[in-house]
Amino acid sequence: MGLYCGIDFGTSNSTVALADANGARLIGVEGEAVTIPSAVFWDADGAPPQFGRAAVSAYLEGEDGRLMRALKTTLSTGLIHERTAVGGKSVAFREVLSRFIAHLRSRQEAVAPGLDRVVLGRPVHFIDDDPSLDAAAEETLAEIARTCGWREVAFQFEPIAAALHYETGVQAEELVLIVDIGGGTSDVSVVRVGPDRARRPDRAGDILANDGIRVGGTDFDRLLSLAEAMPHLGYLSPTKNGGVMPRHYWLDLATWHRINGLYSARTAADLKALRHEAERPELIDRMARVVAERHGHALAMRVEAAKIALSESEAARLQMSDLTGGPNPMARREGFEAAVEAPLDRIRDLLARVIAAAGVVPGAIATAFLTGGSSGLPILHRTVQAVLPGARIATGDMLGSVGTGLAVEARRRFG
Ligand SMILES: Nc1ncnc2c1ncn2[C@@H]1O[C@H](COP(=O)(O)OP(=O)(O)OP(=O)(O)O)[C@@H](O)[C@H]1O
Ligand SMILES: [Mg+2]
Repeated sequence: MGLYCGIDFGTSNSTVALADANGARLIGVEGEAVTIPSAVFWDADGAPPQFGRAAVSAYLEGEDGRLMRALKTTLSTGLIHERTAVGGKSVAFREVLSRFIAHLRSRQEAVAPGLDRVVLGRPVHFIDDDPSLDAAAEETLAEIARTCGWREVAFQFEPIAAALHYETGVQAEELVLIVDIGGGTSDVSVVRVGPDRARRPDRAGDILANDGIRVGGTDFDRLLSLAEAMPHLGYLSPTKNGGVMPRHYWLDLATWHRINGLYSARTAADLKALRHEAERPELIDRMARVVAERHGHALAMRVEAAKIALSESEAARLQMSDLTGGPNPMARREGFEAAVEAPLDRIRDLLARVIAAAGVVPGAIATAFLTGGSSGLPILHRTVQAVLPGARIATGDMLGSVGTGLAVEARRRFG
């Protein structure tokens, strides 16, 4: 039976897809749900790890252990070779990531046992401007996938996978700009798609340009947090002698993959000392409380929820009082868009660069296909429309297009 597997291991969410001669589909990865948050809860007492929504619930219910999110970022930052403390022991990030990938493998095995080949997605760059470290990150992920049971592991760029998914629905040949803005990376390609081309064995000539940067939704979360949440916890607040608090504690608390690093006796002692220097010690008390009670991820989730709400409305209340003892500030879309201007500029540059590299006049690109969760941001639609004023903006399954495209790619490679 010809079944082929694609895995989209995302910074925020992951999917598993299977393709056969008739098409590709996502399979249930957490009960019936076809997406699973890329989250692991590592129990302090040595109980088996929990994954996805179950991991997040275990953390929110106060079980003793560590929630780990944005695990894919460890591949890009070198953290993958380090260990983290959990309940008096230490665990290697590589081990945590392996367990999560093994969990995805088990979902595939439950539906299609015995498949030993897989196509994994990868961002165009795990690491910006360093090809050898980038290749090492891919090799680490390949090794992990092999230890999970796939004998043959291939990779495809995530935006190309999204193009293959988009192509399954097109009636006529066209040039499309794929814009995949996820949790960790922004990846962009110009691809020639069409029903006839889809059948060709070699598609290299149809990829006109392809590039990506390490900017995504977790950056938008961080910047919104620093703009709206952290000031209520003492970020950039004055010291009694006219200085300002050191920033790094708050930067870490606002950055998904650095939160756990704050949960140490050392940070608790540092914050206690800072409290004495603070002009507004009550703000530092809130910070100390969040760290002591390990509310870092809960707070980051509230910030993320406010960010997502701002995609629908002009203002959203940031619910955090129960975690911090401070106010529930009102975030505004305008303020959010101002806070994320720097990464948006980088996305604008990326779009311009990829369109230029494609060597076609912008008018030749008929469609821009926006995918990835962060493509839900209204400002991204405006940004893409501004660089391609004549193009139709198409959207599809924001969280599933890369995964299904990877299974299409697996069928092409292995079929
Ligand atoms: N409606 C929305 N508006 C803005 N952002 C959103 C919306 N829905 C989801 N997001 C954001 O999308 C991101 C997750 O997107 P996605 O699942 O595509 O990422 P990923 O594939 O896991 O990451 P990557 O591909 O970068 O590794 C999160 O940062 C999330 O907050
Ligand atoms: Mg993605």
